[in-house]
Amino acid sequence: MTQNTLMHIEAVSKRFGSVLAVDEVTLDIHSGEIFALLGPSGCGKSTLLRMIAGLESPSAGDIRLDGTSIVKTPANKRPINMVFQSYAVFPHMTVADNVAYGLRAEGVGAAEIEKRVSQSLEQVHLLEQRDRKPHQLSGGQRQRVALARALIKRPRVLLLDEPLSALDAKLRDQMRLELVKLQESVGVTFIIVTHDQSEAMAMADRIAVLKDGRLRQIASPKALYQHPTDTFVADFIGKINLFSVQTLSRSGNRILVSSQQLGDIEFDADELTEEQRLRIDGIQSDDASPLGWQLGLRPEKLRILQAKESDDVIVLNGRIGDIAFQGVNSEIEILIDNPHSGSQSLHVVASADDMIALQGVESGQMVSCGFNAFDLLLLPDNG
Ligand SMILES: Nc1ncnc2c1ncn2[C@@H]1O[C@H](COP(=O)(O)OP(=O)(O)OP(=O)(O)O)[C@@H](O)[C@H]1O
Ligand SMILES: [Mg+2]
Repeated sequence: MTQNTLMHIEAVSKRFGSVLAVDEVTLDIHSGEIFALLGPSGCGKSTLLRMIAGLESPSAGDIRLDGTSIVKTPANKRPINMVFQSYAVFPHMTVADNVAYGLRAEGVGAAEIEKRVSQSLEQVHLLEQRDRKPHQLSGGQRQRVALARALIKRPRVLLLDEPLSALDAKLRDQMRLELVKLQESVGVTFIIVTHDQSEAMAMADRIAVLKDGRLRQIASPKALYQHPTDTFVADFIGKINLFSVQTLSRSGNRILVSSQQLGDIEFDADELTEEQRLRIDGIQSDDASPLGWQLGLRPEKLRILQAKESDDVIVLNGRIGDIAFQGVNSEIEILIDNPHSGSQSLHVVASADDMIALQGVESGQMVSCGFNAFDLLLLPDNG
């Protein structure tokens, strides 16, 4: 356990009948961070959050806060509060009464309640709206009432289940920044559940990616993007072009990969994640297993070549497919021959400047595209 570990989740599983919703998840939450649980629908995010809150008990494993197990502590005795997926505010109560509700239920004195309601409403910038009913508020303001209601209990950890999913796209972007600012100002540790990778990337200090109840990777947003541990994470966090690998072998620190499409590529074992190294070490160094690995390339690392480039660039020839102009960046599809499937569609992200340089390039045209070998990612294929 590191110095700033606030919560430790140890081999936690949850079974509902035949469904293993959470499968031996182990992770640490650091004090003061925004930690995101990210994954596709049904991967077990809410179930894990509900076990942290005390609304479900684990089938196996332990949850420790400051080193002490809390799995037997009832939800209302944990210094943890939750804002639900469909945040419920009482429609007939004013903003201030909604926020005061939890303290009234606890029998806190009127003067203390008043002081803390004002404080919480100030934190979420709703002091002026304190006497309104929820239907007289915008979606973002209602969301902030739900936050104030949770924060007034002064939790050590605030759990937020899809906190922005009920808001429209524009408001969601704005609330992301507001939530991050709020978290910084109150200093409470946030655990956020989302299935939206851009939301997790924009808000979280660290992200845990889950699939089918299992933890796939925990890292900062940047590290997840730059060093995804497998094809699932690479594809879930942004877009990725994949190329098949025919053989892979290890010689000391050198990982040698051969790909029919791209030729021979060499990796340094130090560039790989711990899990990837372990997987490789499970393979005999002379094993030429064709299964299980892919080479990945982010779309912004691939470019359309207009002149001959240095010999270090790997070149592929193809035909332009769709071109989607998207403001700052545009996405270009390039159709190349693939020895296995006949053809393959690659994604190129081109900046506005690239697009100016590429003026005249149009669908159907033959082009060469290329990239540097060092931009390739070596990924176990378990998407
Ligand atoms: N009370 C329950 N009884 C039976 N099965 C459940 C229960 N709660 C969740 N599950 C199942 O457990 C799995 C994980 O559900 P969970 O709600 O944790 O997913 P999620 O990642 O939050 O998904 P979403 O993004 O759709 O909210 C699903 O297969 C779900 O059907
Ligand atoms: Mg959920």
